[in-house]
Amino acid sequence: MPEKAKDKNNKSIYILGIESSCDDTAAAVLKDGKIISNKVTNQAIHEQYGGVVPELASRAHQQNIVPVVDAALKDAGIDKKDLSAIAFTEGPGLLGSLLVGVSFAKSMSLALGIPLIGVHHMKAHILAHFIQDNEMQLPEFPFLALTISGGHTQIVQVDSHFDFKVLGETLDDAVGEAFDKSAKIMGMPYPGGPLIDKYAAEGNPKAFKFTKPRVDGLNFSFSGLKTAILYFLQKQTKDNPDFIKDNLADLSASIQYTIVNILMDKLKKAVEQTGINRIAIAGGVSANSGIRKALLDAQEQLGWQVFIPKFEYTTDNAAMIAIVGYLKYLDGQFSDLSLVPKARMPLKT
Ligand code: KG4
Ligand code: ZN
Repeated sequence: MPEKAKDKNNKSIYILGIESSCDDTAAAVLKDGKIISNKVTNQAIHEQYGGVVPELASRAHQQNIVPVVDAALKDAGIDKKDLSAIAFTEGPGLLGSLLVGVSFAKSMSLALGIPLIGVHHMKAHILAHFIQDNEMQLPEFPFLALTISGGHTQIVQVDSHFDFKVLGETLDDAVGEAFDKSAKIMGMPYPGGPLIDKYAAEGNPKAFKFTKPRVDGLNFSFSGLKTAILYFLQKQTKDNPDFIKDNLADLSASIQYTIVNILMDKLKKAVEQTGINRIAIAGGVSANSGIRKALLDAQEQLGWQVFIPKFEYTTDNAAMIAIVGYLKYLDGQFSDLSLVPKARMPLKT
């Protein structure tokens, strides 16, 4: 954490973070980098459609944003006039969803006369490890981040708060999609990742074997796995229409085991290549108990130093946006009103 934790006048720095890149509307407040409030409103409306419907997501953000920001300020026990800056998600994400957060942040910064700070959503997932929270340990640089979410799967070398190098990434589906699509094939509602995790706890991970993709270097591929699961289940349900129901726990455990192995194989390769064995996980899928256990095993058996964020900082949240806002504030990196949200945004920006 940078030395300077207060502003020029030795006043505390209060950063409001706003996140609206996908289907969660979130707001959080940090005081000098310490979490003082963290609020999220989930959008249940997408469950029935088997995935996020962009138009419905942006409409729900419009409804949620004012109450969520109000609740975050109230919980923090501060007035909006106390804020030092407003940080918000600039991208990547759904354009209509991002637009709600960006417009809100711009008007609030204009009204209060305080700086605006645009934040990269995936960098925020990684930098969530720097939120000052008594239950978390800060990683030292350099470290490797495994970013696993509904939209991303990457191994990133992190050399400083602002230096990121992508060492490998998925060539097709993200790991969260692999979980969600497999769950959908088994008839689960969206997002099915947490449900697979739940059922897997009761199942045998070696009950069914799914082949792992062969991809060079540190890149990943998950689309073949989804197809393999689909064909396997089509074949099985022909003989036994209740096959999925009868084997839900074993199927979930076997799918999770395969996905976790794919991730761990590449991570081991990355540690070998870079000589860096400090590993931090980031993104919604880092809530998965299979990957958490595999990493803790590696910590014990391979001597890795593993950083696992608190659950509320893994899925989309605004505390991670606020911590990047704080780090950028200290570094003098501000945005202006001409900023537009970006659906795609490489990690290099
Ligand atoms: O980072 P995130 O909240 O949203 C973005 O994609 O940016 O990640 C959401 C993804 C979904 O695919 C969801 O199914 C997955 O994270 N996920 C999980 C678990 N919790 C969330 N996947 C597997 N096991 C979990 N426990
Ligand atoms: Zn995310």
